[in-house]
Amino acid sequence: LGRSYHERVVDHYNNPRNIGSFVKDDLAVGTGLVGAPACGDVMKLQIKVDDSSGRVVDARFKTFGCGSAIASSSVATEWVKGRKMEDVLSIKNTEIAKHLALPPVKLHCSMLAEDAIKAAVKDYEAKLAKSNAGPKTIDG
Ligand code: FES
Repeated sequence: LGRSYHERVVDHYNNPRNIGSFVKDDLAVGTGLVGAPACGDVMKLQIKVDDSSGRVVDARFKTFGCGSAIASSSVATEWVKGRKMEDVLSIKNTEIAKHLALPPVKLHCSMLAEDAIKAAVKDYEAKLAKSNAGPKTIDG
């Protein structure tokens, strides 16, 4: 990390919040796994959702990537917590980039975080829809 980085990037890079994983098969967990083709960096972001309130109650991430990607995912996990699902989807990479004062060449790093949030919500909803469809009957 060069000294041109904003102190918030350095802070989240040195002390990443909510690092780790939830069990993927947990019905309350949505997992988003996304990659940036340009640099090959990979980000996994997971949300834990309280079904009755529709709120994200917890989040985890694991990022194999640059400092800006790590900082972006760390910020993303903080921002999704306590929010309703629809509010979570309104988190924009531009807000994350602004918060971290990312330079233009690092914008795609924050884009990874937005994509990962969306993918996590999608995964959660797909699992929910599947479980609501009920158990399949076995014929014959
Ligand atoms: Fe690609 Fe940061 S350089 S995610």
